[in-house]
This record gives sequence, C-alpha cells and structure tokens, in this order.
Amino acid sequence: MSHYHLDTAESYKKAYQESLENPEAFWAGIAKDNFLWQKPWDKTFDWDQKNTEVKWFAGGKLNITENLLDRHLVHNGDKTAIIFEPNDLDESPQKISYSDLAKSVNKMANVLKDQGVGKGDRVCIYLPMIPELAIAVLACARIGAIHSVVFAGFSSTALAARINDCDCTLVITSDGGFRGAKTIDLKNIVDQALEDCPGIQKTLVVARTNQKINMVPGRDFWLKPLFDQASDHCPPTIMDAEDPLFILYTSGSTGKPKGMVHTCGGYMVYTAYTFKNVFQYTEQDIYWCSADIGWITGHSYILYGPLANGATTVMFEGVPSYPDFGRFWAIIEKYKITQFYTAPTAIRALAKESLDFVTPYDLSSLKVLGTVGEPINEEAWQWYFNHIGQGKVPIVDTWWQTETGGVMIAPLPGITRAIPTYATLPLPGIQPVLLDEQGNEIKTPEGSGLLFIKHPWPSIARTIWGDHQRYVQTYFGAQKDKYMTGDGATRDAQGNYRITGRVDDVIIVSGHNLGTAPIEDAINEHELVAESAVIGVPHPIKGNSLFGFIILKNSFENEVSLKNQINQSIVQHIGPIAKLDEMVFTPGLPKTRSGKIMRRILRNIAQKNFDALGDTSTLLNPEIVKDLIAMMQKK
Ligand code: WTA
Repeated sequence: MSHYHLDTAESYKKAYQESLENPEAFWAGIAKDNFLWQKPWDKTFDWDQKNTEVKWFAGGKLNITENLLDRHLVHNGDKTAIIFEPNDLDESPQKISYSDLAKSVNKMANVLKDQGVGKGDRVCIYLPMIPELAIAVLACARIGAIHSVVFAGFSSTALAARINDCDCTLVITSDGGFRGAKTIDLKNIVDQALEDCPGIQKTLVVARTNQKINMVPGRDFWLKPLFDQASDHCPPTIMDAEDPLFILYTSGSTGKPKGMVHTCGGYMVYTAYTFKNVFQYTEQDIYWCSADIGWITGHSYILYGPLANGATTVMFEGVPSYPDFGRFWAIIEKYKITQFYTAPTAIRALAKESLDFVTPYDLSSLKVLGTVGEPINEEAWQWYFNHIGQGKVPIVDTWWQTETGGVMIAPLPGITRAIPTYATLPLPGIQPVLLDEQGNEIKTPEGSGLLFIKHPWPSIARTIWGDHQRYVQTYFGAQKDKYMTGDGATRDAQGNYRITGRVDDVIIVSGHNLGTAPIEDAINEHELVAESAVIGVPHPIKGNSLFGFIILKNSFENEVSLKNQINQSIVQHIGPIAKLDEMVFTPGLPKTRSGKIMRRILRNIAQKNFDALGDTSTLLNPEIVKDLIAMMQKK
C-alpha cells in the first residue's frame, strides 16, 4: 500500500519512517499505484557510487504526457487544465481544458516531428509566459525530444551559450512578449543569438505582440499555419524512465552555466507526489504558482506536478506591479485561487506598498500559501501570513533546487508545524544531514553546518549535460555518498531545518541564482577593466544586491558613464537580472597568498562592517584593506 496522500501528522511520520527503512519499497509503491506505465521497471533503484550514476525505475517504459494529459481525458476532459491570465487587463483570459490542451500538444508534437525533431533531439524554448510555452514543453515530452527552456529575460549571449552547450537544433520563440508596461523583443534577441549558433536549423515563431520582426527565409517559420494544419493525434513516444526529459540551466559558482538533466520516470513521480502533499491538493482546487516556466519552479510546479495530478494551474504572463501592486491579489480573487506559491522577493516588494492594494480583494478562497527560492525573513513571513493568509492560512516554506527537481524540505500545511523562517521537516524519502567544516556529520539534534542529502531520491538531476565529471565534482566531490547542496542550514532540537543561504559563490538576487564568475567575466569584457570581484550584500527586497569591486586598467573621465557601460556589458552577456546595484573602483582586491580573492573581507567592507574584518595581516596585499575602508567611508 502506498501513501500517496499524507493527510495527517501520523501518516507523514509513518511514510517518513518507511521511506528511511526501505526507500526502494516506498517509492516503488508510490510509482506503481499512481501512474501509467507502459511496462513495469526492471529495477527500482540503482546507485553506482563509483561512477556516481543514479537510476530510478530503469527499464520502466512510459510517456510522461500520457500521465499529464491522456489519462485525465477519460473522466476529466472538460476540466480546465490551464487558466491563462494575460499581462493586459483588456485581453480576455483563456481557460484551456484537458482535452483542448491534449489536442494542442499533439498538434505541436506533429509540427515538431514535421520539422525533423525526434527522440533525444534538443529543442530550445525561449518564450514568454503564454500557453504556447506550456504546449511546446509538453509537445517535446510527447515525442521524446529534450526541452531546454531558457528564461525569456536572458540576453542573446546567454541564450546562445545555452543553445550551443546542448546542441539544440530548433528554437521555439515569439515575435515579442508583454511584461508589465514593457514589450520585450524576443525574436530580435534570438536573431542575435543565432549568429553564433550554427547548429540551429529552424525556428518556430509564435505571434504574440505582432510587432515587426525579421524572418529569415528557410530558417524561420510562423507557428500558426503549421499548427493549424497539423493532426491532433500524435502517438506518444515510449521512453525509458531514465531517458532525459529536459535540460535546465542553473548558475554555478564557477564557469559556464550547468545544464542539469532530469529524467522521465523519477522526475514525474517525485514532482507529482510532492505537489499533492506540499499543497494538499484536492480535485476542486485552483492552484497558482507565480514563477516563470523558465525556472525549475515553473517546470515542476506550474506544469509537471499539477498536471500529473489533474489540477487546474494558472499561468500569469505579467508582473506583480502591473497595472498596479494589487495584481496578484486581484488574480487570487478572480479565480478563487486555493493555493498560491510565490517567492519571498515578491512578498517583500508587495509588503512595501500600501495595504490599500490588498484590502479591496476577497482572499478567502486561499487554503495554502507557499514560498520558494530564497530564505524568507520573519517580517515578510508575518506580512504574508497576516495580510494575505488573514492570520489563518498555513504557509509552506519550501526548500529545494533546480538540481533536486522537487521540494525537499517543507511543512505539510495544517498537518506539520510551520515555523517562520524554517523550511522545517524533510519530505518522505529525503534524508538531510549537516556536516561540519571537516566533513563530519553533526549528530546532535541541534546544530549548524553544511546541508547534504544522504540517499538519492527519484528526481535528483542525473548529470550535467556533456560534463558528468563536473557533476561528480560539484555534488559528490566532497562526499562520495552524499549530495552536496551548497547551502548552509541550522537544525533545532525537534529536527526542523532553517536554510541560512548559499555557502559558495552563488548569489540569490530577487530569487534568481547568479554565479559571481559569469558576472565578473561580463564586467571584465569592458576594455577599461582589469579585474573585478562581485559579492552579495543583504538587501531588504531583493534578498541580496550585487556589489562590484572593480580594478581599472587606465584612468577614466566620466564615472557615471563608465558604470553604465559596465552594466550594459552585464546586460549584454547575461541579462538585466545581473546588473550591479553598486560598484567601486579600487586599485586592488584583497587576496590570499595563493591568489584567491577574499570575498568575506569584501562582503564586510561593502556593508561597512569594518570591525568584523578580523586579521588581515596574512593577506598578500594587506595595505589594500585600508584603501578600501577609506573609500567606503567617503561613500
Ligand atoms: C535557495 C529554486 C531558503 C537555496 C527552487 C537553494 C531557498 C537555491 C529556499 C536553489 C527556501 C530555495 N529557503 N533558501 N525555501 N528555496 N532556496 O535552483 O539557496 O533556483 O540552493 O531552485 O535557492 O535555487 P534554484
């Protein structure tokens, strides 16, 4: 008997215990009873520790879209699968039923096939939050093509790097996108990117903004005529549970972004199971996650998890501030949203505005509020709880990562205890441990250390596309038998976890993971820059802001213009999300004798915590610290 639905504290405890004692039997039960498999798997779990290869349900055959779509058509074809809420209020929303979504996905799948896309091919999707994005993702899954969705806020250089890294052959994009009062020229960005992407043979273009764009004959095709002609029947390609489903890029602390690879079977089982339980989803619910499908949260908890459960999921094209700061709350009232899932940065930004943007709306439909992406501070948690949850709706602070595929540590709403700023308890199947700096496990209930996970769970990313060695090094390099999260955490006497933040050179800005290395590379592209170091400084809304210490080659005339140029270089190489909030020009950077930049010192200097600098005499260039302090005192 499997415990698909954890509806009491006892059932959680029992499931957790069983998952500890026998992870294989636990996940086999969940996977067998709740999903459609074309053929049962040969082996539930396989972990080759020597080569760091994890497999779940290998030999099992399935197509995830049969689980997301086809199987619901029997009884629920008319049920709304996706509610599309456009950016502009004067455009009508769309309610797309399961049967209409299935038809569109089949049509799109046939379009892709006609363009020569087949199983295992990589398709880059660079689209705004419109229904075609969901349809494109699922169409890839239908034919076994591997989708690589790139967030439509990334620049052409960042897009090209992602297209080339996994050798995509086709891009799906749109003429443009609406975001608040702005229009984004997506096709232009794609055109620029494709100058450096010889592998791309075709692009399919969705007409969204109807702005003027350039169509390259023989390469660029409008989607609509192809889509309209395509048959709405496309038999699902049968996949092995361990075949890749998608690649999603995430920032690393060094080097180029990491293309995390998720596979069909384990990802499906884990995202469906966690969606059901973390949101306590029931059939009548209307669920909304405000993330973008360009990030893992959108993959797992706008599309895969909710649709696997036959849920109604909302896709919102716009931003929380447009046309005013009440937009989120208006949407909750409009659709009677039962579960709402967003990021702390959005909560903090909206909490700063007047309550007059909140109080006009009826939020009584809400049953669960979720947060994800970064630690939520006590003040934001309380505001969310009191003003959005009206003091009674449970909050689930969900900790997880692109690499983990689904939520790992979170309370179960109304079932286990929520504690502000704590992600609290691990979900069944997840075995967190804290290690000290020496790598020893902290055995006492209370403690602080580096967060590792002991036993692989079904949706752990299997590799980094094209670079398994980097995967091994990054996640299993410190401990051969434990996954390293890169986060620090503390644990209380009851076993509740509080995530304290990244311990590596990844900075989370407005919920987006940014590696310092690519930002520094972009800064160094400027002809006047010799070297730079970027650090995160706590910021009341964004969580962290970006502060750059920059060494110039020559003197310069106009500081404001130079700063703008440097930010322009960042926008060009990465995107506006990585722009520096502050920068100082310095004659040097504090370095260890082995030449490593001492970021801890820079972090304290940027925050003017001059007393916290500690002993700097062992630095290669201790005198620079005085210069930096003097510079900051003038600021
Ligand atoms: C951070 C997002 C504290 C963490 C799903 C992690 C969190 C990184 C939380 C992954 C949370 C995510 N509390 N920190 N509830 N959720 N994080 O890959 O540092 O975009 O390592 O995945 O976000 O970010 P990613």
